[in-house]
Amino acid sequence: MSTNDLLEQAHRLLAENTRTAMFGGRTLTYTVPSGGRYPFQWFWDSCFHAVVWARIDPDRASDEVRALFAVQAEDGFIPHVIFWDERRVSRRMWHYLESRGRGDWFLPGRPPRTTAMIQPPVIAQAVEAIVEADGNAILEDALPALERYYRFLARARDPDGDGLISIIAQFESGLDFSPAYDPASRRAVPSAGTLALHARLPQFLNKALDYDLDRIFRLNRSQREDVLVNSVYADGLGALARLAEHTAADELQKWAETQAARVRERLLERCYDEKRGLFFNLNGRSERPGSRVKTVISLLPLLLADLPLEVVARLLEHLTDPREFWAPFPVPSVALDEAAFSPDSLVNGRRRIWRGPNSMSTNWLLSLGLRRHGQPDLADQLAERSRYLVERGGFNEFFNPLDGTPVGEPRFGWATLAAVL
Ligand code: GLC
Repeated sequence: MSTNDLLEQAHRLLAENTRTAMFGGRTLTYTVPSGGRYPFQWFWDSCFHAVVWARIDPDRASDEVRALFAVQAEDGFIPHVIFWDERRVSRRMWHYLESRGRGDWFLPGRPPRTTAMIQPPVIAQAVEAIVEADGNAILEDALPALERYYRFLARARDPDGDGLISIIAQFESGLDFSPAYDPASRRAVPSAGTLALHARLPQFLNKALDYDLDRIFRLNRSQREDVLVNSVYADGLGALARLAEHTAADELQKWAETQAARVRERLLERCYDEKRGLFFNLNGRSERPGSRVKTVISLLPLLLADLPLEVVARLLEHLTDPREFWAPFPVPSVALDEAAFSPDSLVNGRRRIWRGPNSMSTNWLLSLGLRRHGQPDLADQLAERSRYLVERGGFNEFFNPLDGTPVGEPRFGWATLAAVL
């Protein structure tokens, strides 16, 4: 299939997943990840949708980020999910748990409008894609909003002031049940029940603290400095600096460049394991070493342009090793030679996502990294295999990296990234 035909199919899917909502007297337009399981607006999904929309219809790309900015809080925060469709909010799901409001779960009343959590900050990259396609028009609104957002992250999400931002629940990383967040366990792989409890229990504390970040950072032991989140953050700060340069916003440009360099240095200093040649998360306030399971998270610093060459070489060794990450259909979310690797993300028959299958979101980020580090052939191979997957299996949430069968939700928004890899 030609790239244009695939982009045409991507267009059809994004149009099918398009929704509108009335807010503050305006009609907002956005794209849901999928009509079935994911009927709301998700932050990083919308940013990915904007990247693809930018190639098809830049106005629709702008709608995605405008709908996110519409709910930006005074302090700059932008939530990870916006429940535009109230009717789909449920007390039995995570919707109340991940939102502010203490008694609201048990009392009658309006459901929450948004969660109180973040997702990987990939919105400056989305705005940059729009500017590349459509010029600077969007910057008038977007630049001040982006500045407030990234300054919020630097101020409110970095309790130890080291430059790395912290997440307060593993679901903030976007890689929900990745083994990078597994509890230490005597079993090679914890049971599905243990995984759910380990992930959800700290969220009850966050809810009890009404998502007050100062108190959460004092009390919640499962806060983390996550490698994927911080790689995306540093890359986002780089994009913000370039956007600021377009409009001669010198001070902002300088601030964003300095922050980006700090994040990169800290990742190298604190998260890089020289012996393994991979990056790993830091857990808790005292920055305990996180799980050593090899996941796609460990490779994401490839996004950063100015990594030392020897570090890039080590990451590429892992990425291209067919026993680890260069699966028949790369890039698996967990290395093939890990006990935790599950090609269909099932753990004792229960769905626990991000435990093996590949996703077009992380493939897109990695392909950017490969091109930045002078690896166009590898990036092209990744693009080709990714396109093959969606042409054969449809725009699916995940794919089995061994045989390429679709895993998870069909008709899934970010899988359209395969058309622009
Ligand atoms: C899952 C994914 C997350 C994504 C969301 C909506 O929770 O782990 O990354 O944003 O679904 O697609």
